[in-house]
Amino acid sequence: MSFHIVEQATARLNRSELAVPGSNPGMFEKAAASDVDVVFLDLEDAVAPDEKEQARKNIIEGLNDIDWKGKTLSVRINGLDTHYMYRDVVDLIEQATDKLDLIMIPKIGTVSDVYALDMLVTQVEDAVKAKKRIGFELIVETALGMQNVNEISAASKRLESLHFGVADYAASTKAKTTVIGGPNPNYHVLTDADDDGNREVHWGDMWHYAVARMVVAARANGLRPIDGPFGDFGDADGYIAQANRSATLGCEGKWAIHPSQIELANTVFSPTEEEVTKAQRIIDAMAEATKAGKGAVTLDGRLIDIASIKQAEVMVEKAKQIAGS
Ligand code: GLV
Ligand code: MG
Repeated sequence: MSFHIVEQATARLNRSELAVPGSNPGMFEKAAASDVDVVFLDLEDAVAPDEKEQARKNIIEGLNDIDWKGKTLSVRINGLDTHYMYRDVVDLIEQATDKLDLIMIPKIGTVSDVYALDMLVTQVEDAVKAKKRIGFELIVETALGMQNVNEISAASKRLESLHFGVADYAASTKAKTTVIGGPNPNYHVLTDADDDGNREVHWGDMWHYAVARMVVAARANGLRPIDGPFGDFGDADGYIAQANRSATLGCEGKWAIHPSQIELANTVFSPTEEEVTKAQRIIDAMAEATKAGKGAVTLDGRLIDIASIKQAEVMVEKAKQIAGS
């Protein structure tokens, strides 16, 4: 282990994160009654410019008046390059700071972006004598943000999570695709011809590098990596496949842009009973081995060692977090 200890951000269940446009307050109650872990009320891209002010009012009213049943609440503010942003921050903190847990910052580009927000939020919190500090969720969704992701992830004590904004990322990198998330048939390898001249097309995952890079930056700084949207909400299998790939790389959750995706995310990002039982057996077997002075043992025909315990503990911890939610 390095001498450098990675401090973990505030622990929260973040298997599913539902996007709800601030301009559509009719959806707030439904979101509050759902099984989602985190709700983010949107002021940014789901809200047209002439609806921004009303959306802000709707969100502040919704935060204060609705019973959100213990859910983590976030608001996606407008970008730092717009004049809406400062008013988003000031009004939210002045009028709803007790209700709000997180602010989601879109299109993060540099460490200075985080610094600027941290300064503004701190000033307003101090002015209203806020009892708690708001955390930050950052959407990594531009080439600039991805280039600087390592430094950005260490930029403030307020940071809790990084999110992969696949749609804006595709636009920013000028990727040749128009869908939101999921695989692309053009991103494939063609096998060599077999004896009969047949070749096979094997699809790849064009998002692998971006998600993996974000996961490393997040984990190296104690933050939660969260996968972003999957646009085709009629394709549950496609969503599950994408979520499984992200979970396999280390993501803790995924956005839901439609209520039907909440259950899918909660299922994919929760360990199964079988996985928890197996993890517990690994921990127990290693405890026995340690007592006997051994560093590694065999369980069910496979080698397990100290690293196996750490993997198993992640699984058991997650199960406890879910049970306690
Ligand atoms: C989310 O904001 C995205 O751009 O995918
Ligand atoms: Mg975006």
